Amino acid sequence: MNRVSTGGAAPQRVFLQDVAMRDGLQAETAFVATDDKVAFVDALSRTGLAKIEVTSFTSPKAIPMLADADEVMRRIERVPGVEYTVLVPNVRGVERALVTPPDEFNLVMSCSETHNLANLRMTRAASVLQLLEVMRLSAQAGVPVNVSLSCSFGCPMEGEVPAEVVLDHAATFVEAGARGVTLCDTTGMAYPSQVAALCDAYRRRFPRAMLTLHVHNTRGMGLANALAALHAGVDRFDASLGGLGGCPYAPGATGNVCTEDLAHMLALEGCRTGVDLSALLDCARRLGGLVGHALPGQVVKAGRRLDLHPVPASVAEARDRAVAPLAGRPEQAR
Ligand code: COA
Ligand code: ZN
Repeated sequence: MNRVSTGGAAPQRVFLQDVAMRDGLQAETAFVATDDKVAFVDALSRTGLAKIEVTSFTSPKAIPMLADADEVMRRIERVPGVEYTVLVPNVRGVERALVTPPDEFNLVMSCSETHNLANLRMTRAASVLQLLEVMRLSAQAGVPVNVSLSCSFGCPMEGEVPAEVVLDHAATFVEAGARGVTLCDTTGMAYPSQVAALCDAYRRRFPRAMLTLHVHNTRGMGLANALAALHAGVDRFDASLGGLGGCPYAPGATGNVCTEDLAHMLALEGCRTGVDLSALLDCARRLGGLVGHALPGQVVKAGRRLDLHPVPASVAEARDRAVAPLAGRPEQAR
């Protein structure tokens, strides 16, 4: 097992990548105004996140919430040191996105044939061909590519997805020049030992390619899965502010692992994320207002582990009561 941090050694660098503005918003029904999206990305850019998934260049019929992708990308401020990525499912998407090129294209397809047909309306083979063409266009434009593989840990319609299917799809894209792959647990089917085994197998097979873990907290295993991946040497995590999120074309999908909860845990585990947790919590408080409902994030409600509460007056009274009967009695009787 890889160590997270060792006594005296530099803390492990972990890259936090927020997907609330893409994975988070795509599941929402009430449209969030373009101005609000832009302002929110600009605020997120000042929290120390390594990467922000700003939007997706998908069909506006499939994801109406993100129909304003072009305008959002044109208007956000690009803060140095932050990478801005966008989700792209096909050639049309990359053609649109190249007008205001992001720092990375995040290509998407599913490892499950059924989920790919439901989500992208094409077979996995057709997606592979589309995405290889997208990679050719991206290479011409000098924009690096990451590939997100949905349902890497199971499909809500097919059940188990064999690890070889996931790794073979990863191989197709890594060999074609993708800089990294994201293993996505689209509907929270992953469990810690499975995550550790698949991440370990990926790292052995593709030692030079980047690896990101993208987990949803659908069954309450999000943080446990992230910790298992961390111990397996993974240093990049997608997460969604407030725990917002979910694929509209995956039955039963709910939110991603929560960014601020993950940042809080990683800090306690001695990792260096570069994230300003207070600034992130401020953004998380704003996000509920943006989408108009409460969010599942925990730390924003409970406070950080050592955010202490005032001592109630009753404690001082109880302390006085406990001391009073002892006062004035001989030393050995106390
Ligand atoms: N951006 C904007 N419009 C697009 C587009 C894109 N990336 N891709 C296709 N379109 C348009 C076409 O121009 C066409 O428009 P028209 O009806 O005005 O002629 C229409 O959409 C249909 O095109 P087609 O190629 O037949 O696409 P489709 O209807 O089979 O849908 C996808 C395929 C991939 C575009 C669509 O399923 C999609 O965007 N899915 C994304 C789902 C998603 O984001 N899920 C959550 C993230 S995992
Ligand atoms: Zn997701």
